[in-house]
Amino acid sequence: METKVIKLDYASLDQVLLQEAGAVLRQGGLVAFPTETVYGLGGDALNPEAARKIYKAKGRPSDNPLIVHIARREDLHRIARNISPEAEKLMESFWPGPLTLIFQKTEQVPAQTTGGLSTVAVRMPRDMIASAFIQASGGFVAAPSANVSGRPSTTTAAHVEEDLRGRIEMILDGGQAVIGLESTIVDVSEEKPVILRPGVITREMLEAVVGEILVDQALIQPGSDIKPKAPGMKYRHYAPKAELIIVEGNSEAVAREINRLVNQWEQEGKRAGVLAAEESKGQYSQGLVKSVGSRKQEEEIATHLYQVLREFDETEVTRIYSESFADARIGAAIMNRLLKAAGHRVIQV
Ligand code: TXA
Ligand code: MG
Repeated sequence: METKVIKLDYASLDQVLLQEAGAVLRQGGLVAFPTETVYGLGGDALNPEAARKIYKAKGRPSDNPLIVHIARREDLHRIARNISPEAEKLMESFWPGPLTLIFQKTEQVPAQTTGGLSTVAVRMPRDMIASAFIQASGGFVAAPSANVSGRPSTTTAAHVEEDLRGRIEMILDGGQAVIGLESTIVDVSEEKPVILRPGVITREMLEAVVGEILVDQALIQPGSDIKPKAPGMKYRHYAPKAELIIVEGNSEAVAREINRLVNQWEQEGKRAGVLAAEESKGQYSQGLVKSVGSRKQEEEIATHLYQVLREFDETEVTRIYSESFADARIGAAIMNRLLKAAGHRVIQV
């Protein structure tokens, strides 16, 4: 299949092109589109056949449910029921934006979209192209991140092409995704809200709106046998091609240990990479060193993390040593993704 790439300009959204993209979804096809978090691989959420195509294009297990994206609050009632007062408050504060909420689903949502679950994940993106595209598609767009299953999520249209060219009808190019990490997921289908996946909407921000909030046990004890409540969180995700190992401790000890490990690896005739913060990248004398951004700007690290992991894939590097990052606020989401990419391999120094 030929994949058509369409460049869109936020300043003057081309309605004719958006209608064309919408028509692809209405006819059961797939279109990748930008959102403020990462690119999504969209299909009609109310069409079971489209969900099947999404799983196939990504190579994703079909028990892993999809997020349904909407563009208007009033559309929520068609797909979700038993909407709690806490959920209302969260939507009031954070929609449109990088927050996904899990509700009890209505019969309108096919089991294929939710991986057989009785709940449905819903998000209303803030991105203008996403919003216009969802409306042009009929209002309900199922979209996982637009990457091949197991690879880092995509934050540019070029990344999407790398992974999905030839497998989908169309890619809408809206440039670089501003946030760069997937949405925060909160389950509001039961009595107390529970965070299933951390994101740039932090626990503190959520608690400021609804009071104390729970965190899925599987997030608190990563690498343990506890089964995560978001089925997708159990897979080794966001993985670069090289083996990734995190080195944790005080910054001087970390630099010393990484230098030693890189030297050891390269002496065997292999290439090593270093994933470092802007402040400490100068500490490394050997290996391919890449900065992911300044520790003073967590947003910057979030935006660049997947991009940097993908850049390593273009190189000969077979082992990457990464610094660790503080895990307060957005850092919780950054470390969640980095630990998964590393398959939880951490060296403490
Ligand atoms: O920022 C995002 O959320 C991006 C953009 C495209 O919106 N989407 C995204 O989708 O990250 P995906 O499919 O890569 O991740 C969705 C996660 C998976 O871990 C999935 O298991 C979980 O959401 N999920 C979806 N529906 C669920 C449900 N009903 N109950 C629990 N977890 C659910
Ligand atoms: Mg994903």
